[in-house]
Amino acid sequence: MGVILATAGSAVGLGNVWRFPYMAGQNGGAAFFLIYFACILLLGIPGMVSEFIVGRHAQANAARAYDKIGKTARQQSVGGDSQSATVNNQQSVGGVSPSATTTRWRYVGYLGILTSSIILGFYAVVAGWCLQYLVASLLGHLNGDAAYVLDYFQSFSSDPLKPCLWGVAFVLITHLVITRGVKGGIERASKVLMPLLLLLLVVLVVAVCVLPGAVSGIRFLLLPDFSRVSSSVLLEALGQAFFSLSLGTACLCTYASYFSHDTNLLRSATKIALLDSLIAILAGLVIFPAAFSVGVEPDSGPSLIFITLPNVFQQAFASVPAVGYVIAIMFYALLVFAALTSTISMHEIGTAFFHEEKHLPRGEAAWIVTAGCSVLAVFCSLSVGAWPGLKVLGLSLMDFCDLITAQIMLPAGALFTSILLGWFASRQVLRDEFTNRGTLRGRLFTAWLFTVKFVVPVCIILIFLHQFGVV
Ligand code: TRP
Repeated sequence: MGVILATAGSAVGLGNVWRFPYMAGQNGGAAFFLIYFACILLLGIPGMVSEFIVGRHAQANAARAYDKIGKTARQQSVGGDSQSATVNNQQSVGGVSPSATTTRWRYVGYLGILTSSIILGFYAVVAGWCLQYLVASLLGHLNGDAAYVLDYFQSFSSDPLKPCLWGVAFVLITHLVITRGVKGGIERASKVLMPLLLLLLVVLVVAVCVLPGAVSGIRFLLLPDFSRVSSSVLLEALGQAFFSLSLGTACLCTYASYFSHDTNLLRSATKIALLDSLIAILAGLVIFPAAFSVGVEPDSGPSLIFITLPNVFQQAFASVPAVGYVIAIMFYALLVFAALTSTISMHEIGTAFFHEEKHLPRGEAAWIVTAGCSVLAVFCSLSVGAWPGLKVLGLSLMDFCDLITAQIMLPAGALFTSILLGWFASRQVLRDEFTNRGTLRGRLFTAWLFTVKFVVPVCIILIFLHQFGVV
């Protein structure tokens, strides 16, 4: 139960409440949502199950886990399928791999470690903004009209120091949590806090929907207008689906290495994916009605929630400002918490790798990740604030990191994973994991395998080709 909750904590975060609304806003609202949800069902859930299988089978960090499942492929071609699978399982107890050589599948794990560290770099910046907004709402600094709120965000984010410090602070908090052994406590807390976030979102949806002009926002999110869909929307929706599920970086694989042998992988993946999408749509149902009501453009980009939400808390609770005050604080606090359970998962991938593979003490391993990600966070923060000239390929460093991870590295990670499992890994190992060694009926095993073997790779490759103008 604990690890499943932690996995859900990894999935639910700024991806749902910050990234989903602004992505949907830039890509036509409802049409984007439909494509995103199709990606979740068709590619996301099977992809999650794949990563779960890799992780639970290996019970090790990302690189070793991919290596280990990769070895079942090699043994399958040498010896019989099911027989070699058992040999592999037995010999690797205690972390001793059956053969000293490694396979090239290890690089999929490396890719995941790199991707999650880059994501942590820019994610911490936004998490830092949330911290600033938590403090500002406590101090009552966010009260004012729409123009004031917009100005507040712009002057805060372009400050050369403040947003950088908050971003680094967030990486450090993550570091402390994972090195001081309080991670279990955080996971237990999420049992209460996650449902609370869900509840608060429902309250906000109701409160926002009665604001003048809110209906246009609901229409924007729920009535598809495919004429607004641009050519890149497919890749953006795919990237958002993977980002939101924490898929494609071996993050789920690392968590699944702690799953018990009777965790039903398909059921857990489905539950987490549906919960995650529910939170995203609720966030959308708060942000868009609010944006239309206060006159903020839905395609304002990454600042969208920061320039609309403060108005929501004031206007929706105008008759009892104290309620608005408390709700605002609770909201930012829960958002910070949700972000933290996600950054923990990103940090953990690199830390586990340096600790287990490079034999560093856990503290030192964590410092490597913390140092690298803090530096990246500072530059990302500057690129959208005080140093607008910090661009890569015409994009701010922050947008660039977001783009290459969500739209290239995550889909690539998922693509390699599905090719490995669908085409190379031992079928018997996959079936054993899928059915918990035959204790579940596993009726959907064949359907899952077919999806992983054909549907996932074909869709991802087609979307890539489409983006590069080939099809
Ligand atoms: N899924 C998280 C969110 O929605 C972000 C996240 C956590 C993530 N771990 C990840 C994204 C690993 C990609 C890969 O906020």
